Amino acid sequence: MALAVTTPDGPFSSGFDSIYLMPDALPELAWQDIDLRTQFLGKWLDCPLLINALTGGTEASGRINRTLASMASRFGMGMAVGSMTIALEDPSTIESFAGVREVNRDGVIIANCSAYLNADQVCRLVDMVAADGLQLHFNVAQELAMAEGDRDFRGAVENIARIIDDCPVPVIAKEVGFGFTREAAQKLFQAGIRIIDNGGSGGTNFVAIESQRGGNFDRDMFGWGIPTVASLAEIVSLQLPLQIIATGGVRSALDVAKAIAMGADLAGMTGWFVQRMQPGHDLAQQISSLLYQLKAVFLMCGAHDCASMQTKPLVILGPTAEWLRARGIDPSSWSSGRYRALV
Ligand SMILES: Cc1cc2nc3c(=O)[nH]c(=O)nc-3n(C[C@H](O)[C@H](O)[C@H](O)COP(=O)(O)O)c2cc1C
Repeated sequence: MALAVTTPDGPFSSGFDSIYLMPDALPELAWQDIDLRTQFLGKWLDCPLLINALTGGTEASGRINRTLASMASRFGMGMAVGSMTIALEDPSTIESFAGVREVNRDGVIIANCSAYLNADQVCRLVDMVAADGLQLHFNVAQELAMAEGDRDFRGAVENIARIIDDCPVPVIAKEVGFGFTREAAQKLFQAGIRIIDNGGSGGTNFVAIESQRGGNFDRDMFGWGIPTVASLAEIVSLQLPLQIIATGGVRSALDVAKAIAMGADLAGMTGWFVQRMQPGHDLAQQISSLLYQLKAVFLMCGAHDCASMQTKPLVILGPTAEWLRARGIDPSSWSSGRYRALV
């Protein structure tokens, strides 16, 4: 976590700077008309935000999880715990994850683990936090960058299908910052996944983080991955019945609104919380300010809720527009009204 605080985002942009929302100077809405509530995993969130997977396993990380859980509860956000694999090996670590449910009894809590565990193991992890959903994380680049990381990535698709069969809650496929492509999303969909967290690049960079821990990748590899916005466009353009979480370099209310306008159902943030958990920050005040600004952006776009935000025009310029062209993604062919203006 300390390295995540000091390692800069990037090195390339997450792509939100190439997306423009159109101001609606005559929105015909009042502040109280703006409703950010979002349905997710069978519950209602007060806003389309997920505190994404971060930590667990030690006493200190248990305290962080409890703090985040209390914020999730207070502001009606979803929350995922960090990778829980260690809890299968060391029962003394369970509390660092389970505390989240004690603090946030009714909220949306998501368990998190590797996609290579067996169905019995993931069911135990889901139980530990009375999870509403399970994230399976995909992090090939991070594993290869780590000196002690995994080297065998065979059998994931079959294993996911088995997990989906046995898991009592919906399963979410989650990249950790290198971005799912549409091809990966298609494979995941065929395996039975119906919720994807795209985890694109431009935010927290695990290749850069691991390189400072004596990893195998040098600086030339820091640019690995596809930008969050490109990854999001790839997945949305498939027009599959998926719920989509946009994560990776989401750093502001404007980024959240852009992600929703592009077709995401929720935005996931981790680095934003990591920075604001540091001494000297008033986390609650900053979340409150983020939500105020998010509501303001909705009003300024004339969008009264998330569904209406997804129909608002947006302009896509620069590298993201190039990306869509290069990948044959034609915004004007989409019936949903998304991506209506590409320059
Ligand atoms: C310190 C740290 C630890 C993380 N641990 C996990 C993890 O255990 N499991 C996981 O799926 N993602 C993990 N992530 C990835 C985040 O959930 C998120 O996908 C990624 O950081 C990109 O979002 P960001 O740019 O907002 O940080 C971690 C991120 C950070 C910064």
